[in-house]
Amino acid sequence: MPPVYAGGFSFRAPVRAERAWGDTLDAMVKMPADLVHRLQPLVAGQMFCVTGGAGFIGGHIVDALVSLGGSVSVIDDLSNSTAEHLVDLIELEPQRVRFVHGSILDDGAMAEAVAGAKVVLHLAAVGSVPLSIANPERTWNVNAAGTMRVLQAARSAGVERVIYSASSSAYGDAPCQTPGANAAPRRESEAPQPLSPYAAAKLAGEHAVRAWSKSYDLSTLSLRYFNIFGPRQPADSAYAAVIASFARRLVLGESPIIYGDGTQSRDFTPVASVVAANLLAATSTKDLCGQVVNIGTGVRTDLLTLARVMAERAGVSTPMPTPVFRPARQGEVLHSQADISAARKLLDYQPVGSLDEALGETIAWYRNQAEVGGGGLGGANR
Ligand SMILES: NC(=O)c1ccc[n+]([C@@H]2O[C@H](COP(=O)([O-])OP(=O)(O)OC[C@H]3O[C@@H](n4cnc5c(N)ncnc54)[C@H](O)[C@@H]3O)[C@@H](O)[C@H]2O)c1
Repeated sequence: MPPVYAGGFSFRAPVRAERAWGDTLDAMVKMPADLVHRLQPLVAGQMFCVTGGAGFIGGHIVDALVSLGGSVSVIDDLSNSTAEHLVDLIELEPQRVRFVHGSILDDGAMAEAVAGAKVVLHLAAVGSVPLSIANPERTWNVNAAGTMRVLQAARSAGVERVIYSASSSAYGDAPCQTPGANAAPRRESEAPQPLSPYAAAKLAGEHAVRAWSKSYDLSTLSLRYFNIFGPRQPADSAYAAVIASFARRLVLGESPIIYGDGTQSRDFTPVASVVAANLLAATSTKDLCGQVVNIGTGVRTDLLTLARVMAERAGVSTPMPTPVFRPARQGEVLHSQADISAARKLLDYQPVGSLDEALGETIAWYRNQAEVGGGGLGGANR
């Protein structure tokens, strides 16, 4: 059995140069020490259920919860992940980590997963826009109906709060956008305009999350994520997220592939920020009322710039690898940037770390995977 966090990513000390996570585990992502000290007493000794906790973002949240002294029950059908990381965690903390291998659509499995939990962090989803266009029914079942099943299981088990991982894809394109035009940061008050079955289903999940908060004794919140990236994100399929794909290709000495002309832009958000947002939401004493808040950085970067910066970070900038251009993908927005003022106000959220630093850590992780021949350059089906 490999040691815990066998991906080879070396944990770097938290921002204040002080080891701030729990003593037994090194978390993959860095958190400011003051945030950790604030969260630790609120998380320690509490029980959380993480749906999709074997996945990329869910796995980092599980690490953080366990590191802060919490207990975690994970449900995942492993349709886009493996149990490898969880198995390592369970070996290390058998009393505090539980894994239910099953689907959120299976009420029995859900009941088992939420038993005893105070808060459910709901991340399980079919997470790809192209996949949703190819198979809209599965996406709708898991992302929309599945969210309703999670809410129902939470109600039945007397869970206090459900935090839903929503998606900025709900916004769609702002009216009259043209390539290269300046897109304004998206505000939660804007009418959503989903462009794909994935976006529509994630939006339906938000509506359910809000309605269940209004109709039942359940505190809920939707966190709309903007392009999350970091170590352990699947990188090797046509559905891979752009930073994972660029990083993998650069460390393998290949040119990045850009779908479209590269002027499209995104608010690329380090996974540490999403971990922080989930922990703040899970432990907030405020009445969350089913609201929706954006989780991003508030800054957007176009893909041509991203490719250049990442090539520099990967040390392959001379000569600069020329990106390979492919036709733009259906259902994808041109520009995406978060206005994060609502999350700042409600949760005291602030982005963790800088883009440059997080890109460096992410590339280092993929390089390490390439060197050790690890599975981290792969991924299940996206
Ligand atoms: N990664 C991003 O940039 C991003 C952006 C916006 C929103 N989100 C949302 O964040 C969440 C996590 O995304 P991620 O990037 O970690 O994706 P991921 O695919 O790595 O994680 C999702 C997990 O859910 C599991 N899953 C899928 N269907 C399931 C089912 N029926 N029952 C149980 N488990 C199931 C998968 O096996 C996987 O482990 C998703 O809800 C996604 O929509 C992600």
